[in-house]
Amino acid sequence: MNLFVKNISQLVTVAARGKTVKTGADMGDLGVITNAGVYCKEGKIAWAGPMPEATRAVPEDVAELDASGRCVLPGFVDSHTHAMFAGSRVEEFTLRAVGATYQEIAAKGGGIVSTVRAVRAADKKSLKRPTARYLTDMLRSGTTTVEIKSGYGLAKDAEIRMLEAINELKDEEIIRVVPTFLGAHAIPPEYRDKPHDYVSLVIDELMPYVGKKKLAKFCDVFCEKGYFGLEESERILLAGKTWGMQPKLHADELSPLGGAELAGRIGAVSADHLERVSVAGIAALRSAGVVAGLLPGVSFFLNHGYAPARDLIEAGVAVAIATDFNPGSCMSYSMPMMMTIACTQMRFTPEEAITAATLHGAAALGLSSRVGSIETGKEADLIVADVPDYRHIAYHYGVNHVQTVVKNGTILEL
Ligand code: NIG
Ligand code: FE
Repeated sequence: MNLFVKNISQLVTVAARGKTVKTGADMGDLGVITNAGVYCKEGKIAWAGPMPEATRAVPEDVAELDASGRCVLPGFVDSHTHAMFAGSRVEEFTLRAVGATYQEIAAKGGGIVSTVRAVRAADKKSLKRPTARYLTDMLRSGTTTVEIKSGYGLAKDAEIRMLEAINELKDEEIIRVVPTFLGAHAIPPEYRDKPHDYVSLVIDELMPYVGKKKLAKFCDVFCEKGYFGLEESERILLAGKTWGMQPKLHADELSPLGGAELAGRIGAVSADHLERVSVAGIAALRSAGVVAGLLPGVSFFLNHGYAPARDLIEAGVAVAIATDFNPGSCMSYSMPMMMTIACTQMRFTPEEAITAATLHGAAALGLSSRVGSIETGKEADLIVADVPDYRHIAYHYGVNHVQTVVKNGTILEL
C-alpha cells in the first residue's frame, strides 16, 4: 500500500545527494525541511518535500498519516551488535560496580567465554526467542536495520547454529537484519594453549562452510592483545574476502594495536570501537574511506574512555554510531541513548549524531545507497518522533520518543 506522511513539522532527510557519506562540516547538514511531506510508493520513497508542493507530487486517493507537530527521520541503522546470546552477565556488572575491570573479569574466566559456555548449551530455538524480542523492541525505539554478529559459539557447530538462527530471523522479522561472521571473537578455552590452531579452524573449516552457504555478509575480528593480533586478523579477514565476506574489525578498543591502520590497508568497510586509535590510524581510515564505527555505550558501560570523535570528524572520516548491544560491554540497544552519550561525552553535535546513527550506519553496512536517508528511490524506512524539534531526541534522554515506525512504506503495529 502507498502512504503519504503529511504536515511534518521537521523532516530530517539527512540527504546525501548522490554521495554515500557526509564528511567534515557536511556531517552536520541534515537537509531539514519544515512543514514537509513524504510520499511512499511500493515501499520506496517517491517524493519528499515542502507541503505546498505535495499537491503536484502525491495522488489524491492515497492513505495518509498526519505528523503535525512531530519530526520524521530515517530509521536508525545499528551497524554493530552482538544481539544473539544466551544467559546474562549481570554478575560482571555487579563486579565492575565495585571496581573490577572488563579485562580482569575476562582473565578470571568471565567475559566473552562465559557467554560462549551458555550459547554452546543453547539450541537454535532458545537462541532465537530472546533475540526476536529484542528486534521488536529495537523497531519500537526506531531502529529499522540492524547488524548481528556470531562469535559466541567459537566452534563449528555453535557458530553455524548462531549464523543459521540469525539468518532465519533475517527472513522472519520485519527489521532488516545483516549477519556478520565473528568466529574470531576470542580464543575458546580448549584452544588456550594452541591459539594458532584456532585461527586455522576459523580459516579452514568455519569460513568455507559460512562462505558456501552465504550465511554472512561481513567477516569481523576482535583485533586486540590477548585475542587476535594484527597478523592473525589480517589473515582471517583476507581469507573472509575470498569467501565473499567483506571485512570489518573491532579495532583499537583496549590498546592502540594498529587495528585502524590494518582496516585501511585491507580496505575494511568499517573499523569499530577506536577508543585508543592513533593519529596514524585516523589518517589511514580517512585515506581508505573506512567508516569509523563508534560505540558510545561501551565507553559509558565499561567506563573506559571515549573514542576521539572530534579528531575523526575533523579529519574527514565518516563516523557512525552503533550500540554494540551485547551482555558484557553494552546491555542496551537504544540508538537515541547512544546519541545522547555521543553528544554529552564525545562532543558530537545533535546533527552529527543523527547522521552517524542513520546514513553512516548504513554506510558501515554497505547499504547507504538503499537506506539511511529520506531521498527519492531509497527504501521507505522512517520514524515519526513526538518531539517539537529533532534535537530533543538526544536532549530529552532515556525515554522513547518514537511514535510510529514505517518500514518499507508500511506503518507497523508494534
Ligand atoms: O564489541 N570487544 C569485543 N567484543 C564485544 C564484547 C562482547 C562481550 O563482552 O561479550 C564488544 O565490546
Ligand atoms: Fe562488538
